[in-house]
Amino acid sequence: MTKFFTQSFFSNDIGIDLGTTNTLVYVRGKGVIRNEPTVVAVNVKTNQLVAVGHEAKKMLGKTPPHIRTVQPLSHGVISDFEITQELLEYVIHKAQEERTRMFGPRVVIGVPTGVTNVESRAVRDAAVAAGAREVHIVEEPIAGAVGSKLPIHEAFGTMVLDIGGGTCDIAVLSLNGSVASKSSHIAGDRFNENIIDYIRSEFRLLVGERTAEEIKIGVGSALPLPEPLERAVRGRDLATGLPREIIITDTHVRESLSVSLDGLLDALKEVIEQTPPELLSDILERGVVVFGGGALLRGLPELLEKMLGVPVRISPDPLTAVARGTGIITETPELFKEIFLHEEEILSQT
Ligand SMILES: Nc1ncnc2c1ncn2[C@@H]1O[C@H](COP(=O)(O)OP(=O)(O)OP(=O)(O)O)[C@@H](O)[C@H]1O
Ligand SMILES: [Mg+2]
Repeated sequence: MTKFFTQSFFSNDIGIDLGTTNTLVYVRGKGVIRNEPTVVAVNVKTNQLVAVGHEAKKMLGKTPPHIRTVQPLSHGVISDFEITQELLEYVIHKAQEERTRMFGPRVVIGVPTGVTNVESRAVRDAAVAAGAREVHIVEEPIAGAVGSKLPIHEAFGTMVLDIGGGTCDIAVLSLNGSVASKSSHIAGDRFNENIIDYIRSEFRLLVGERTAEEIKIGVGSALPLPEPLERAVRGRDLATGLPREIIITDTHVRESLSVSLDGLLDALKEVIEQTPPELLSDILERGVVVFGGGALLRGLPELLEKMLGVPVRISPDPLTAVARGTGIITETPELFKEIFLHEEEILSQT
């Protein structure tokens, strides 16, 4: 009975996926309650937050001088500490709004693997400042493995590939630890840059990053498609400076991504080469599990499977795997001690 009361009335535990591109918040019993771009708009005169998430992303490139839009995480590292702290405090307060504030929440935060100790401490301090009574920091690919319900506690080789916006993480996990891993910047943002560069050199047309992302999601693929896809794209003609429209097909996008996809394959092969032979048989049996937004690129699992000769499957709902994993960890953090970046528990002053 006591357990029931503590869990249903007072527990307001929060899991956060602090991604380079998207920040997701998971509350136990409710699921993912927030899924927004990791973008913040700040008034530089008053130092106050003006907008967060979708609202702030809409302002990118359109603000008056006293408002600054910031993407506080870039290329998988925290490039703006203070703003990251403000963002975390904001999302933790929001997540608690409808809940009792009698006890501070337990918060589990997934961070990109590239973050330094100093950065992860800053993340932890921000959560404490926002009222958390207990904070745990975990690397995104491990949280994603938990969210994908993979047996990371077992003496069994589990291979994951997390293709986010800023970073791509590959890891072979066994007994709560990473046996082999590699992190690179071949991820969603790089794919967008590849598309921009390709259109510039092949069509002499300049397109923006948002357009490139729409092209990638709309007609992008890693393998030829049964039904070709195409879309009209508008940009600035490099010679005349005037607007022009072209048609982009899935073949164009595939060509533009080919170098990155080769790089991704090489990185996967490298991790497989580092993996002890005993664990390789587990990987051959269960395969590689892919999550992060990049997992949604058409034909990617098929391409990887063909080139690596191991089964490849996409985690169900790959964009929320990390957030769901952080949520699962809040339920029984004692089972995940070994994977936390800081093992000590942080107790608030009260
Ligand atoms: N259908 C799709 N096809 C291809 N790419 C997609 C698709 N949907 C989303 N993406 C890409 O996924 C990326 C965002 O993924 P995700 O939210 O997992 O990143 P993140 O966790 O914020 O970043 P990181 O893990 O690097 O910190 C973006 O680059 C986006 O363009
Ligand atoms: Mg991520």
